[in-house]
Order: sequence, then structure tokens, then C-alpha cells
Amino acid sequence: MTSATERRVVVAGAGNMGRKWIATIAGTPGARVVGILDVDLAAATAAARSIDSPGVQVRTDVADLADLIATTGADVVMDATIPAAHHPVTAIALRSGCAVIGEKPAAQTVAQALSLCAGAEAYERLVLVSQSRRYNPHVDALVAHGTVLGDLGILQTDFYRAPHFGGFREEMDHPLLLDMAIHPFDTARYVLGAEPVSVFCRSFNPSWSWYRGDAAAVATFEMDSGAQYTYNASWCSDGAETSWNGSWRLNGTHGTVLWDGESDPVPDVGPQVPPSGHAADHGAARSGIAGAWDAFLAALEAPRVAGPRGHIHENVLSLVMVEAAIASARAGLPLAIDDLLERARERALADETDPVVRERLACWGPVREHLLAAGRAGVAGVLG
Ligand SMILES: NC(=O)c1ccc[n+]([C@@H]2O[C@H](COP(=O)([O-])OP(=O)(O)OC[C@H]3O[C@@H](n4cnc5c(N)ncnc54)[C@H](O)[C@@H]3O)[C@@H](O)[C@H]2O)c1
Repeated sequence: MTSATERRVVVAGAGNMGRKWIATIAGTPGARVVGILDVDLAAATAAARSIDSPGVQVRTDVADLADLIATTGADVVMDATIPAAHHPVTAIALRSGCAVIGEKPAAQTVAQALSLCAGAEAYERLVLVSQSRRYNPHVDALVAHGTVLGDLGILQTDFYRAPHFGGFREEMDHPLLLDMAIHPFDTARYVLGAEPVSVFCRSFNPSWSWYRGDAAAVATFEMDSGAQYTYNASWCSDGAETSWNGSWRLNGTHGTVLWDGESDPVPDVGPQVPPSGHAADHGAARSGIAGAWDAFLAALEAPRVAGPRGHIHENVLSLVMVEAAIASARAGLPLAIDDLLERARERALADETDPVVRERLACWGPVREHLLAAGRAGVAGVLG
């Protein structure tokens, strides 16, 4: 994707993902990294040196982000910081007039993510959450197969792996649900073309687990189409591991499609079922983060098109699946997603310090309806 206008980009977070983003942006004609923010000065300067772009400015304090944007004339912020920093980085970027593309999750909590939705509206800027598996040709093929299955009633993901990460994941209360499950949850919404209504989740920690918190979970979601999505997963299961995307089964009126998470999905349908249509066109020829970056640039160039995928208003519904699953596991009860969304809006209102963002949040109708309407309107809706 080449941008007609040169995009001047500040990258916040120069860790594992930040370095990948810097290489992706630096490799895009019409986009230039002009600044890097990381609390770790060595990480920021090493990242600045890794690209052939003279005069990249470096800062180490998020309080200096507005100054970095003003000094460099940036119009885009790419946020690859840790989840706890996503809200402050994006809120400052919006107030400074920038569009934002951020790594998943949209924010640390649904309440903070709602504040960022309202910020995108108040400052009329695009905020896109890069959920890298949204730009996966096999997922698009799974969606295309689904179009000939009739009513989609059952979707299941089995995810069994045994990574030894060390570090923060092994100390978290819900490492699997908090750090990993958002990817399949987001994919499930996309594959079913449906939104979550309720969840019942049980999380647990097998006796041999090397994690402090629950490394395994079984969650069932009722979707607004009537379909059921089930997630069976463990992060401490040696032997017969699934792929990193998990192993998928999609079942509708006319048959089933299996996807192993890393090769073409395989349909098993009756002879009367016509071949599936073409994979969805998401306006991005590349996959992974490059696909998300291309879709972001395309949306900035032509804001009247619907979408793009990962537009923050629609992405919040993936984050709410994570938070609701954890809340259900803690309570030992099924939970309604709408209750959680409304409580999150109350929290967001109570915590909001920016008066124009607060005003936007206060005038929303029911949160689900607001998010769905804004998600349908896409960038054009946010930019007015
Ligand atoms: N799409 C994917 O497949 C995928 C994979 C891994 C991580 N992620 C996401 O990417 C993000 C970054 O993960 P990572 O693996 O690169 O982590 P990381 O720890 O390697 O890098 C994070 C960087 O952010 C910096 N940082 C922390 N607080 C900051 C602040 N307040 N201001 C500026 N910089 C700050 C850290 O110093 C570090 O360099 C997370 O949101 C994570 O969930 C996505």
C-alpha cells in the first residue's frame, strides 16, 4: 500500500512487536518513522538506529508524547506498548490530532477502551486495533466456506499448547484468557458474523501447570445469531499440540468446515452444496500486521468506506468477551455481556478526566447499540 500523503509516524513501544512495526512502516513507501517513545532508552535508541531514517527523535516519558508529536509533525501514532499504557498513549495521540493504530488489546480494560472510542469520536480521528489474525487468508477462506453452510449454529476452537514464557505471563491470574484468548474470540465474531450475548466460563489450573494463575479454560458464548461458540484451551498441555491459532470446527445446516489453524480449511459438505464463494475482500493484499497497516492507510486515504476491520468501536466487542469470560469464571455464573458493557461505561464516566470525551460518553444510548452503529458506519462515521 502506498499512501498519497506522506504519513509521519511516532511509534510508542520499541519492544518485540514495536520493532516489527517499525520495520513494516519503514518498508512502506509514503510512510516514515519520525519519532520513537519507550520508557527504556536503550530499546528506543536501538530501534531508531535500526532504520535508515535520519533525525528520528526519541523520548522516554509518555508525558512527552504530545511534544514529540508537535516537534516531528507526526500525523499517526503506532502504539506497541504494554496493554496498561495503551489508554494514555492513545488518549494523548488523539488530543494531539493523530490517527492511531495500536496493538491488541484496545486497552487494559473495557472501560478504558470505551473512553478511547469516545475520544476517537470527540477528536474525529481513526483508531484501529491491529488484531493481526483478522488479516489471515485462511480465516477469510473459512468465512467464505461458511457462506454456503446455511445457518451457522456451532463454532468450536480447541487450543492446546505448552509454552514456557517465563516472565509476567507465569505470574498473571488468568494468563490464557487475558493474553491469548482475544485472538480466537475476535476470529469467532468474524467467522460467525455475530456478536456475543452471554458467556459461561470455567477456568482452572491443571496440577502440573507451571503458571501461577489459571492456564486452562472452557468458555461457551451465546451469540446474537443464536449460534454457540465454545473455546476449549490450555497453555500447559504437552503432546499433540494444536497450531498457535488452534483447531477449528464450523458447523451449519449443510455440513462442517475444519481448520487446523495453519493451512487451508477443509469443507465436509453434501454434494448438493454449491462451492463456496471467494474469500472476503478486506482491501489488504498482505497478511498479519502488514495487512492491518495497509487497511489503516487505505482508510485514512478514503475515509468514506465502511470498516476497516479492527476499527476500535467493533474491536471492543472482542475485548468484552475476554473480560466477561474472566468475570464469569470468578463468579462461577453465566453473565450477560450487556451488563458488563453498561458497567464499563459507568466506570469510564467516573474515571474520565477529559471533559470533551466525558461529554461524548454521557450522550451515548445503550452501549451495544452505540458500538454496533459506529462499527457499521466505520471511519466515515467517526470522521463525521
Ligand atoms: N498481534 C500479536 O500477535 C501480538 C503478539 C505479541 C504481543 N502483542 C501485543 O503487542 C503489545 C506489545 O507486546 P510486546 O510483546 O512487544 O511487549 P514487549 O515487552 O516486548 O514491548 C513493550 C515495550 O513497551 C515499552 N513500554 C512499557 N510501558 C511504556 C510506556 N508507558 N510508554 C512507552 N513505552 C512503554 C517497554 O519498555 C517495551 O519496550 C502488547 O499489547 C501485546 O499484547 C501482539
